[in-house]
Amino acid sequence: MAFYVTTPIYYPNGLPHLGHAYTTLVADILARHHRALGEETMFLTGTDENSSKIIREAQKRNEDPHVTLETNVQRFKDLYAALDVSYDDFIRTTEPRHHRGALALWAKLEAAGDVYRRAYEGLYCVGSESFVTEKDLRPGGLCPDHDERPIAVREENWFFRLSKYRDWLIEEIEADRIEILPEARKNETLSFLKNNEIEDISFSRSIKEGDPAWGIKLESDPTQTMYVWCDALSNYITALGYGSDEAEDARKLSTFWPATVQIMGKDILRFHAVYWPAMLKAAGLPTPKTLLVHGMITSGGRKMSKSIGNVIDPLELANEYGGEAVRFYLAKEMPSFDDPEITLDSFKAAYNAFLANGIGNLLNRVMRMAINYGVEYGDLSKRTLRDAAGFARYAEAFEKFDVNAAANIAWEQASAMDKYIQDTEPFKMIKVAPDDAKEIVANLVCRLYDVALLLEPFIPTTSRIIRDCAITRQMPADALFPRKD
Ligand code: ME8
Ligand code: MG
Repeated sequence: MAFYVTTPIYYPNGLPHLGHAYTTLVADILARHHRALGEETMFLTGTDENSSKIIREAQKRNEDPHVTLETNVQRFKDLYAALDVSYDDFIRTTEPRHHRGALALWAKLEAAGDVYRRAYEGLYCVGSESFVTEKDLRPGGLCPDHDERPIAVREENWFFRLSKYRDWLIEEIEADRIEILPEARKNETLSFLKNNEIEDISFSRSIKEGDPAWGIKLESDPTQTMYVWCDALSNYITALGYGSDEAEDARKLSTFWPATVQIMGKDILRFHAVYWPAMLKAAGLPTPKTLLVHGMITSGGRKMSKSIGNVIDPLELANEYGGEAVRFYLAKEMPSFDDPEITLDSFKAAYNAFLANGIGNLLNRVMRMAINYGVEYGDLSKRTLRDAAGFARYAEAFEKFDVNAAANIAWEQASAMDKYIQDTEPFKMIKVAPDDAKEIVANLVCRLYDVALLLEPFIPTTSRIIRDCAITRQMPADALFPRKD
């Protein structure tokens, strides 16, 4: 069975922050686990480049928007390199393959009679790239999420017949044919669909004189560009070659679509749980199997934001502690489904407890005994993930896309080894009953190898080092995870 996991495509109008790193790492961990199970796996991430936010940022910097894009997209790629993110494809919505696919999808909506022209008047928030109503706004008329005043828009646009899909969406979501995890987000989506009049949505913007050439111009109406959310959502299939007639693209699309799991923060749930499935249905395409929705990372009890000054830069953390430390922390300490809280103090404490004094120390103790006592053991390289103690529970946690639970099961196996060493004290026993002590250490090396297999999706490089040390009976070349005070 094929496994297809996606992240949102992020706006590269600024630098990537910890929230982007988090979503992408959850996807990476799932992808690595499914590769380890031997499944054909596709992991897609990318950037959402056709937003007028990019133009605004370029104007602020007084540079060509393509220059802004190149600089910022490179920052995302640098971060992913530092965090060892194993994406199979990185889609940028300025690429020709995306334009081709998004237009092909639009043509399907048109052929289905699901887009039509209509005059429209409303308030638009560029920060959210969506229309807002007076009642959504804070006192003073500001967007609650972006602190900016929406602009009044009055123009003729193409509308998507979202209203037509309301009852169908309710049925699909209730029956979990579009599974929304966790349950609270499913219920939130259902009550939104049931308690509101679902109106058709403006799906294009008219091009005005002096506008920069930006976005995807409609083929059937060159006075309009595609609404950036319609454009952006289609990335999940355009990256698989939707709209292309190459055989390899057709194979990719039929192998990987519908997606196994699409990951996002709760801020953009409605776009993914309402607009996106309706677009797919209109185009005659199957809908994603699962939408996995995580909370928003907070720091010191408040949403991480530049104006509050509680932003933690994931690249800085990776430079100081190593990418593996960032990976391990986000997986082990962030709850999969609530709003995760992070502070630098908690990061440092977790680093010392779980990595410096935990896994790093465990590797040193076990291998030092194995080498010093001349312990014999068989070929470990034949062992597989399925042999590891705790595998059943671990696999079950992954089935539920609960990366945090899976990380904690892997960690439990590592800390159970510490307890076993304390209880049996092979370092004392070696003087009185050397054969028994050696047997215990041989057993420890084997368990260490298995723990490394369980840890692979979370800390792939460390996992490789541990397995190599165990197989070659050597200490690591460099100390893993030196203590930080
Ligand atoms: O919304 N905590 O892009 P975006 C956790 N381009 N995750 C966070 C976070 C936080 N504090 N802040 C951001 C867009 N994220 C659109 C998406 S998809 C077709 C188009 C993560 O750059 C989280 O995954 O604003 C959130 O949903 C996403 O970044 C929003 O990224
Ligand atoms: Mg955002």
